Amino acid sequence: MTTLIQNATVVTSRKSFAADILIDGEKIRDIRPGIPSDSAEKLIDAKGMLLFPGGIDVHTHLDMPFGGTTSSDDFETGTRAAAFGGTTTLIDFAIQARGTKMRDSLDTWWKKADGRATIDYGLHMIVTDLPEAGLEDMDQLVAEGVASFKLFMAYPGVLMVDDATIFQALSRTAKNGALICMHAENGSVIDVIIRRTLAEGKKAPIYHALTRPVTAEAEAVHRAIAMAEIAGAPVYIVHLSSEEALNQVREARDRGVPAFAETCPQYLLLSVDELARPDFEGAKYVFTPPLREKHHLPKLWDGLKNDHLQVVSTDHCPFCFADQKALGKDDFTKIPNGGPGVENRLQLLYHHGVNEGRLSVNRFVELVSTTPAKLFGLYPRKGELAPGSDADIVIWDPQADHLISARTHHMRVDYSMFEGFRVKGNARAVLSRGEVIVDNGRFLGRTGRGAFLKRVARGGAWD
Ligand code: URP
Ligand code: ZN
Ligand code: ZN
Repeated sequence: MTTLIQNATVVTSRKSFAADILIDGEKIRDIRPGIPSDSAEKLIDAKGMLLFPGGIDVHTHLDMPFGGTTSSDDFETGTRAAAFGGTTTLIDFAIQARGTKMRDSLDTWWKKADGRATIDYGLHMIVTDLPEAGLEDMDQLVAEGVASFKLFMAYPGVLMVDDATIFQALSRTAKNGALICMHAENGSVIDVIIRRTLAEGKKAPIYHALTRPVTAEAEAVHRAIAMAEIAGAPVYIVHLSSEEALNQVREARDRGVPAFAETCPQYLLLSVDELARPDFEGAKYVFTPPLREKHHLPKLWDGLKNDHLQVVSTDHCPFCFADQKALGKDDFTKIPNGGPGVENRLQLLYHHGVNEGRLSVNRFVELVSTTPAKLFGLYPRKGELAPGSDADIVIWDPQADHLISARTHHMRVDYSMFEGFRVKGNARAVLSRGEVIVDNGRFLGRTGRGAFLKRVARGGAWD
């Protein structure tokens, strides 16, 4: 099947230009102005539209057991919601069950995704336990296309690992070329603060934020980068939330250290005030790191503009308010940590970034698609509009008005963190490997069509 998208403006991370895109099967064959209409079996008129490479969200938690429950989107509902928002690739997190081989957990996550994903997906592996033999296990995973690992400096007793484990893992990736993703918060210090706070009878959602100081994030970011530097490995800080943490990344990068970081729409657009909402509504905003004071927000936007931050992901980890967040009604430590957002990333970053003059449209593409592809070993198959790349294309209507609401979203969760946000700019149609999977608000994809992506180590962004 050949398809020709005509009359649009093609937007890549480097430039914007008027051109048509000819698709042959799953791949882009040609991009240039004036491709004759009789070159293709199917024509799509995209006059007035922008064409972006499909969004890549490198941080989602679908069907993940966490906090005494399981995240409410699975690979079917989560990938479909992602597609509606213009995301055509996800990288989700498999979790090593403590004391077992990581390879077994990879099988578990493949079973969750297989036959359900509607867009392509990769997997990172969360390392919870790293005996000497586990180091070879890491190499095997890299060979199977799991080219990145996540380690936690927080959540003691659940996911947290010690510095020795982190340093061992970093040292191994210095050799095998994988990228370590770090959840950087000082979990031990936070744990003490939490216990003191509970002992004082403070149990409302707001105390989730008040027990996780900015300095606990900045210190962990500093330590993670220091350990990576000693190991001679790159490091990627996930869900960075504060100015102080950002300063650590910037200082390291200024010294030429291959440190990278992502932030998420919630840290760019929401503040700690949300956790003080009455009637337990603050629980909707309980995730880690927590939302911060308002003065951090413009610093994060500046970080995106100036390449101190390289990626915007979502950390999509939805839990329903009615029956999952409610687990922590009497104790904030029992509120499952996480929030929904996989559908809204492009809408929010385009509106508040591009429309509001904080980012160029090319930087927007770089943040949501091209750099994620490069850092995580998918480039140029994904993250690019060029002959030979997968035809993952977002046909973006820059004039579309859209009201974000749980009443209309496609994520399987009963609230939106961005309820009532009105944005201009939305995906009109979405193609995944040449197939139109979303068109004018209708889902045309097929459950199970999404493929596992074997990613390559040393994606190249730090060479
Ligand atoms: O609160 C969050 N972020 N939940 C998901 C797990 C994680 O730390 O990324
Ligand atoms: Zn995390
Ligand atoms: Zn996460």
